[in-house]
Amino acid sequence: MSGQNNDKVVIARGLVKRFGDFEAVKGVDFTVSRGECFGLLGPNGAGKTSIAKMIYGFSPVTAGKLEVFGEDIMTRARSIKSRIGVVPQEDNLDPELSVRENLIIYAGYFQMKRDLAGGRADEILAFMDLSDKSGAVVEHLSGGLKRRLTIGRALINQPELLILDEPTTGLDPYARHLVWQRLRKLKEMGTTMLLTTHYLEEASQLCDRLIILHLGKILEQGKPEELVVRHVGQEALELGVNTSQRDLLIKGSEDLIRAWQTLGDDMVIYTDHGRQIAVFVAERAAGLGITISYQRLRPTNLEDVFLKLTGETLN
Ligand SMILES: Nc1ncnc2c1ncn2[C@@H]1O[C@H](COP(=O)(O)OP(=O)(O)O)[C@@H](O)[C@H]1O
Ligand SMILES: [Mg+2]
Repeated sequence: MSGQNNDKVVIARGLVKRFGDFEAVKGVDFTVSRGECFGLLGPNGAGKTSIAKMIYGFSPVTAGKLEVFGEDIMTRARSIKSRIGVVPQEDNLDPELSVRENLIIYAGYFQMKRDLAGGRADEILAFMDLSDKSGAVVEHLSGGLKRRLTIGRALINQPELLILDEPTTGLDPYARHLVWQRLRKLKEMGTTMLLTTHYLEEASQLCDRLIILHLGKILEQGKPEELVVRHVGQEALELGVNTSQRDLLIKGSEDLIRAWQTLGDDMVIYTDHGRQIAVFVAERAAGLGITISYQRLRPTNLEDVFLKLTGETLN
């Protein structure tokens, strides 16, 4: 392993994934450092799973460089895989086995001795809050419990890098919250994580840094809060105003506006001076006889960054 990049767990340079003629990942560059939670945020089809699968050695790299733990994934996949934990997007637990048996069987893939595997399985069940489900058959578990088991299973080999592909997609808010709690705990313990998601809330809660992906390309990267400040400022003012009257309504307040976008039937104004703009447009609307049918001032978030960069929403 090259010493100077010891703290770089993943290095991707000009990474490409093609399926036949279709380029799903169009030359992306990013690095994941030891101890951080790194996010791939983007809507369905952005290329998140394609990237994740290349990193965990499940899908060959078409072009570019991809190093994990300082080694080339294409030539050193076997040794790299033994140091990674994977939570795939699609559940692939053995439905006919019990919760604990799923862990034990999986430990076998890492040549773990049976008594060691048993102890490790019990530790993981306790950590994932699954001890009382130890003997339950997997096909009878709820989606949230299955997901927690899949995360636990990924921890069996004490991985140096945990890859989570959409860890909470399809879960209800409560189950999602329980998963977030466990992932936060893993973060506190210093686990390096690469997480894909199309939930901005998940990305902002968990990720130290992230890339925003769209159609196989990186639109932006950085810390969630920095991206918000850089692109959209602190506040979003949503206004229900007829399309043809929007320019007229904000005329004269442009200096206070970072950007504005159409969001469904509304317009959304990005600004660091929300109250001032709200007063300004209210007076202007009254003066010009423009109807504002709806108004809401709220803090900005990553969804706004995505909307501003693409003109589309994440979901
Ligand atoms: N095995 C495949 N064959 C052909 N196209 C694929 C395959 N897997 C993914 N794709 C396409 O690649 C693009 C990116 O997919 P994916 O990486 O799954 O995105 P995401 O995980 O962000 O939803 C999509 O347009 C998808 O249809
Ligand atoms: Mg995916």
